[in-house]
Amino acid sequence: MITFEKKTRLFHLRGKNYSYLMYVNQAGFLQTLHYGGIAESDGEFFAAQGAPFAPDASNWNFDMSFSEMPSEYAFFAHGDFREPTAIVSREDGGVASRFRYVSHKIYRGVPEVSGMPHARSGGETLEITLKDDFSPAEIKLNYTAFEDSDVLVRNAEILNTGDRPFMLKRAFSFCTELPDGKFSLMRLHGTWGAERSPDVKPLGYGTVRLQSMRGTSSHQMNPFMGLLRANCTEDEGECYGFQLVYSGSFALTAEVSPIGRLRLQGGVNDMNFGWKLEAGERFVSPQTVLCYSADGLGNLSREYADFLRNYVIHPDYAFRRRPVVVNHWEATEFNYDNEKLFEIIDAAKGLGIDTFVMDDGWFGARDTDFAGLGDWYVNEKKLKGGLKAVIDRCKKNGLKFGLWFEPEMVNEDSDLYRAHPDWAIHQDGVALCRARNQLVLDFTRKEVVDHIYEMMSKVLKENDIGYVKWDMNRHITENFSAALPPDRQGELMHRFTLGVYDLADRLTRAFPEILFEGCASGGGRFDSGMLYYFPQIWTSDDTDAYERAKIQWGTSICYPLSSMSCHVSVCPNLQTHRTIPFATRGAVASLGAFGYELNLAEMSAEERELTKKQTADYLKTDELILKGDLYRICSPFTDDWFCEMVVSKDKKNAYLVCERLRGVPLYLPQTVRLKGLDPEKKYFIEETKLTASGRTLMNHGIAIPYLTEYESMILHLREIK
Ligand code: GLA
Repeated sequence: MITFEKKTRLFHLRGKNYSYLMYVNQAGFLQTLHYGGIAESDGEFFAAQGAPFAPDASNWNFDMSFSEMPSEYAFFAHGDFREPTAIVSREDGGVASRFRYVSHKIYRGVPEVSGMPHARSGGETLEITLKDDFSPAEIKLNYTAFEDSDVLVRNAEILNTGDRPFMLKRAFSFCTELPDGKFSLMRLHGTWGAERSPDVKPLGYGTVRLQSMRGTSSHQMNPFMGLLRANCTEDEGECYGFQLVYSGSFALTAEVSPIGRLRLQGGVNDMNFGWKLEAGERFVSPQTVLCYSADGLGNLSREYADFLRNYVIHPDYAFRRRPVVVNHWEATEFNYDNEKLFEIIDAAKGLGIDTFVMDDGWFGARDTDFAGLGDWYVNEKKLKGGLKAVIDRCKKNGLKFGLWFEPEMVNEDSDLYRAHPDWAIHQDGVALCRARNQLVLDFTRKEVVDHIYEMMSKVLKENDIGYVKWDMNRHITENFSAALPPDRQGELMHRFTLGVYDLADRLTRAFPEILFEGCASGGGRFDSGMLYYFPQIWTSDDTDAYERAKIQWGTSICYPLSSMSCHVSVCPNLQTHRTIPFATRGAVASLGAFGYELNLAEMSAEERELTKKQTADYLKTDELILKGDLYRICSPFTDDWFCEMVVSKDKKNAYLVCERLRGVPLYLPQTVRLKGLDPEKKYFIEETKLTASGRTLMNHGIAIPYLTEYESMILHLREIK
């Protein structure tokens, strides 16, 4: 619900459990008043509270007031010495700005954001127009609140209303302020094979900046920032989340001012950014999903999961059963031919697997990672009879077929590069920087995106394909486009991301029946921007069930379980050399979009039996994974256990997974208290055949039998009358 109180010019946005209040102060600035638990529209009270921060418009003294004014879109070089939200640089080089309120409107639904991922529907939107006193920049701030959610979606648009161009040196999506900075800041940092590890440190004075400068949201820092009060736990206490719906270079900042106030901002990374706006042009910034929870981090995660499933992930897929896949990458890498693949495909029969995914190596001269990227046509020397032969073999075994692409990349040893060397991002006179022996295609150029679209859509049209894995295995260097003029080079990173979105949009629209899975050297582009196009993402190349417990835990902080693609792989694990029981690998992978990443033909009879059980069990729980609520119980970062449970919305069914992470000399059962159940309901536990009330299970708990290191336990609970 969004209201406006005319007398005090107070805006009140209400979600399920939060209030967001701001007003137009006496000098015409849009000033933040409150973001947190529900408050009332006490206009006069809030105006009085906010007044000391507003400048006296008759002489613009900034000292003591103005410089600390809580701003909804902060300006530069005019008395606010904290980080600005936008920098408008005019033709004469002048950068001072002062954004003031002009008008607003309130309407049902979401704002239109073309060419970028966004909340698809629902909600109510407040659109506020600000104007720069010193330049022709007009700023539109969009706020969308949802009655059934604790998120608030924000972005900003900047329009050049003048007749001369100006340059945006920063154009963040949002700014908001909290009255104090007494929080710990949570970031999800990582590296290849160890993505989204939560790190929580108290904020101090000054600015903390979370960012990626890699052209992709990155393994290293997820585009999410959490703020936790000192008493915030999984189940209690206040916290906030700021999540960018964006997949490119981003920045999120938290700045504690000299008097202890906290300013939060973020959007497209402004490092070497420069966006030229010609007269009449508009820059639209990516959306940010703010979330407030008064009931701990677990609730914040459930709010994000619900929001992404209900409003961002494509409705055709958000709650649709995901196929159980088998992918041969870890089994063969590049080293395969028809026979090797047929072995795996034949071995899938009767195991409850739905789709066989052919990974890297099927196209061009791709026998190693030195060649072939960009040549999206089948290598018939390697695969006799082409894709059709493999697809026919899949069909014979009752399997659908999936295919791997890496659309944004090119090898120098490829037909594409030989024909169009200028299509790779490079700058004459600057040495090429390679990663995995490959270069990045210049997706700022429409002809490049069109060409890749044509090649990919030909393969997808001519073959019976049910699934695509879209990979991206290196970051951008050289930061230069041969197609952009010098004064637009600062647009490269964002334009590249827009090119990726364009291709993803066209392909997913043209092939709505194909399930697209995102991937970037594992989970290097795991963000809600990609989830708009691809309902699931390969979580990490690290498939070790000990490491995966940590990665999946961290990912679940702000993404739904169903978005995480999780596979059972071979042991000793290829990445960590650790050996973990097959059943445990299955248990951990079952907390996501489930599958296998190994040579099915080499499995023992016992493993085959376990696989049948795992896929059958998965059919019982995938509804919960798709639609249920996640409760994190024991953290793999701090406990000897990893333990999570998922509960259906009606609280009639629940699924619990526990993995012993560190062996300890304790031979007696340990008790774990369950969460999220209905205290009034009685539950039957399928595996132990015991019955207890939700109240007992949550207040007392269940005994977990003695398990040795890496052993696991799964429990299915259902309501009985
Ligand atoms: C990346 C992906 C892997 C696999 C390889 C293929 O590393 O994360 O799953 O597809 O590329 O080259």
